[in-house]
Amino acid sequence: MEGRQMSDVSVIGTGVMGSALVEVLAGSAYQVTVWNRTKEKADALSGPRVRTAESVVEALTVSPLTFVAVTSQELSRTLVEEAGADLKGKVVASASFVTPDQAKVYDAVVKAAGGKYLDLSIPAYPNEVRSGSGVFLISGDRESYEAHREKFEQIGRTTTFVDETPGAAYISEMAILLAYLPMAVSLLQGLRICEHHNIPLDWYTETIPEFYHFHIKSLLGRVTDKRDQSLRNVEASINIWGDTAAEYADYLRELGLDAGMYDALQRLFSAASQAGYGEDDWTSIAEHTTGNDRKG
Ligand SMILES: NC(=O)c1ccc[n+]([C@@H]2O[C@H](COP(=O)([O-])OP(=O)(O)OC[C@H]3O[C@@H](n4cnc5c(N)ncnc54)[C@H](OP(=O)(O)O)[C@@H]3O)[C@@H](O)[C@H]2O)c1
Repeated sequence: MEGRQMSDVSVIGTGVMGSALVEVLAGSAYQVTVWNRTKEKADALSGPRVRTAESVVEALTVSPLTFVAVTSQELSRTLVEEAGADLKGKVVASASFVTPDQAKVYDAVVKAAGGKYLDLSIPAYPNEVRSGSGVFLISGDRESYEAHREKFEQIGRTTTFVDETPGAAYISEMAILLAYLPMAVSLLQGLRICEHHNIPLDWYTETIPEFYHFHIKSLLGRVTDKRDQSLRNVEASINIWGDTAAEYADYLRELGLDAGMYDALQRLFSAASQAGYGEDDWTSIAEHTTGNDRKG
């Protein structure tokens, strides 16, 4: 690597997440090389421990580990593939969501160039990553993870190696995060309801964490308790929650709020009801999500 300055980690893509990674890495005393399509954004991060690479090839080859934090896995993989770099002894960790099939393809691209691939799932916001509170779920080549484990552990709050199967970290992330977005959007809509009806915000912000902490634990305890499955009492039926979803959707519309999520829930419960499960306990709803199954 004659004439090139070597570094500890490279970061390709200095958008919100990439720049947070650069800041936390540099703050942990690592030498960081960055590349970004819009060079000024990469240059803006330059400092005693951060320098800008002139090309993707340079970024991939001056460090033993490169984080790729661009908009999508397809773009991430294409940037690496089209760079055509010799990746022998190099590890590429992608921060973009992949399905297992997409991860297999990415893994093969990196392997064909002589390198190793890791999924770097980050179920955290950039500000948390920047301040050292990032959460990292990692899958892919275990040896590569072990070789760089200290870096992940130093820059994040928790780091978990999920599995060697490419994509595994993203599937775990999805299982956890799936509930977050609808819940977060509903919390924001709940705030609008409070504003509309002059409900005290203090009451809302105090009640929400207490209410959901209890109900999430209780729900997960109930549905994962194998002993109870055959004796599962009907606490609230699919029909009851379906009706409630329709009532909530109507009132959201009346308030001028988007009712799309509650319309979708109403359709889901209604399909299960039409398939003959209306009197079953509502916690069986995820078993009847296609609407094609029929009660025998
Ligand atoms: N933000 C989050 O909360 C968060 C959390 C976890 C994971 N992630 C993941 O991190 C990845 C990056 O997200 P972000 O929030 O940092 O997005 P972002 O701020 O929109 O940054 C996108 C990055 O992709 C680059 N890019 C876009 N099109 C490109 C192209 N055709 N060629 C080369 N580079 C291109 C952009 O370069 P330019 O500057 O030149 O436009 C920029 O560096 C995503 O996969 C996201 O899912 C984000």
